[in-house]
Amino acid sequence: MRQELQTSLFTDEELEVVAVSPQVTNVASVPHRSPFRYPGGKTWLVPTARKWFAQSDADSQLIEPFAGGGIIALTAVAEHYFDHVTMVELDDDMAAAWKTILSDDCQWLVKQISSFNVSADSINLAIAHADDGLKERGFATLVRNRTNHGGILAKGSGMIKTGENGRGLSSRWYPSTLVKRIADIHRMRDRITFIRGDAFEIMEQHLYDENCFFFIDPPYTIAGRRLYNHFEVDHCRIFELASQMSGHFLLTYDDTLEVREWAEAYGLPYMTIPMQTTHLVTKNELLISDSFDWYGCNATKTKPRLELCMG
Ligand SMILES: C[S@@+](CC[C@H](N)C(=O)[O-])C[C@H]1O[C@@H](n2cnc3c(N)ncnc32)[C@H](O)[C@@H]1O
Repeated sequence: MRQELQTSLFTDEELEVVAVSPQVTNVASVPHRSPFRYPGGKTWLVPTARKWFAQSDADSQLIEPFAGGGIIALTAVAEHYFDHVTMVELDDDMAAAWKTILSDDCQWLVKQISSFNVSADSINLAIAHADDGLKERGFATLVRNRTNHGGILAKGSGMIKTGENGRGLSSRWYPSTLVKRIADIHRMRDRITFIRGDAFEIMEQHLYDENCFFFIDPPYTIAGRRLYNHFEVDHCRIFELASQMSGHFLLTYDDTLEVREWAEAYGLPYMTIPMQTTHLVTKNELLISDSFDWYGCNATKTKPRLELCMG
């Protein structure tokens, strides 16, 4: 593996940051365990996350405070890196879907998926019933996620037009695959806690828990507004909390000057990692962690410069 030393944003030699240039993940080689095609989903990060999980022991627990489609937590629990994982998500629609999958209403959900004939009318009908109850809302969320352009659930998002191979609205609706993924998750329900709540609260509650592994994937600084209903996040506070955690954390962000400044403000080491977007464009993302020993490289801790996080 090629390793290169990346120069810091700053000329100050104390702010040396080590970055590694791994290969772009072929997502086809990664088990897709989430029923959602979630914008900003981290399937491509699974091989790297496994290396990070490998530090865990029998007492460790994983918390994913910005769960979205939850691929990292699902992988961690399905592949037995952790006995128990906790997923936290603020979005009520996503919460309804996760709660339904993990409850006895899962059978009902599976039946709805299996018998659903995709059309604009049937989608609108499912959406119209979303207010009937939690399970109906959960089903409507899944339908919208699989039939909306880019899987986007944010207000203003629209349905797929031409879709894959001209299959239009049904181009991402694979009922048997969805049912299998949902049934697999439901089978692990005793090992998964889902909380509809605020990422910051759970991070604060477990701040000094040495057995906690936090996988933190907040809404993107640039694209978040278009992708999620909840996109406004105090990013600096995330870095502040991460710098105080007694356990381990892995934080992912888009690679911008601002994000590098936040990491440097709290003296947190970071590295770049390449990923391929759905439009097959390769770009870098940033990983920030308490240490990169698990990755097999010697990251140098940046020296805290809190003035970078002011104003
Ligand atoms: C980048 S996405 C997470 C994607 C996820 N890692 C995946 O692989 O699917 C960020 C998520 O954070 C959620 N979110 C935003 N603010 C939140 C908050 N304060 N607490 C919990 N979740 C929040 C958004 O609704 C969105 O689902």
